[in-house]
Amino acid sequence: MPLLKKSFISSEQLNDADIAQIFDRAKSFKAEFTKKRRIDHLVKSEGISQKVIAMVFSEPSTRTRLSFQMASFRLGLRPVILDNLAASSISKGETFEDTLRNIAAMQPDALVVRYGVDHAADKMLTELPFPVINGGIGAMEHPTQALLDALTIEEFRGKVKGEKVLLVGDVLHSRVANSNLVLLSKMGAEIAYCAPEAFSPSDKKWKPVKHFTELNEAMKWATVVMGLRIQKERHSPHQGIGLSIAEYREKYRIGSDQLKHFIDDGILLHPGPVIRGIEFSDHVLSDPRCKVLEQVTNGVFLRAALLSLILGFEVSL
Ligand code: NCD
Repeated sequence: MPLLKKSFISSEQLNDADIAQIFDRAKSFKAEFTKKRRIDHLVKSEGISQKVIAMVFSEPSTRTRLSFQMASFRLGLRPVILDNLAASSISKGETFEDTLRNIAAMQPDALVVRYGVDHAADKMLTELPFPVINGGIGAMEHPTQALLDALTIEEFRGKVKGEKVLLVGDVLHSRVANSNLVLLSKMGAEIAYCAPEAFSPSDKKWKPVKHFTELNEAMKWATVVMGLRIQKERHSPHQGIGLSIAEYREKYRIGSDQLKHFIDDGILLHPGPVIRGIEFSDHVLSDPRCKVLEQVTNGVFLRAALLSLILGFEVSL
């Protein structure tokens, strides 16, 4: 079991066997929950209720934070969470890195963490004696989001291999895009993006990736379309995007006109939060091809699978 007791920071860490193992477990948890509305009875290992997971979120989060908590409770684990940093000693002047170091000194069994750019924290996390799970670090990676996206693609498209996945929006600043490029390529999907110049990725791993300038052309090509929010919080104060919001919506918002170019059995994804009218129109959010809430449901089971594997719990599937 290669994931056992390991930190999970990047999609790069996963091999085919890891992905298959996480997906099998997530799918079994989902199937059992659908039948019995519980999964804790599947966990065979003793002492799960004595395991404490610390969660520290210094950036806003709804889905990732709540689904890690929900997954912990569903498994029978005990999560503790620090997400209101204004009510922590950070407001007294303690650094984020020192805050993490002190939480680590309380000896949790694992840590789920989200924060912005903090190289001191990046380094400190590699030295901890228990597993650390990346719940979204800066613009770098969000590997559990990529896993739940891949699981949702597999569920609704039957497979990931050979799928044509189009990312639309602020690719440059999106940790979701980075993790998806690595994971989905590894799983055999073809990736492309459609973004204005100011949001086009510059890192060398994006160099070979197909780039569309015209959204309707891109929609014709894709089997899976993923919208991405404009990551304002990661833009430098003087950075313009080279076009107004009205022009951005005109060129990059997916609405009913763009859907006319999309295949009937394709799917639309978004990691959330969706800003209605900017990335997707209301019409798109109610289109049967839109699987945004199914992604959220899968996120709970995917994170339960990952936590149970990393903590080494035996489960009966
Ligand atoms: C994303 C994130 O925080 O990176 N959301 C999420 O975790 N589901 C995307 C975003 O904030 O736009």
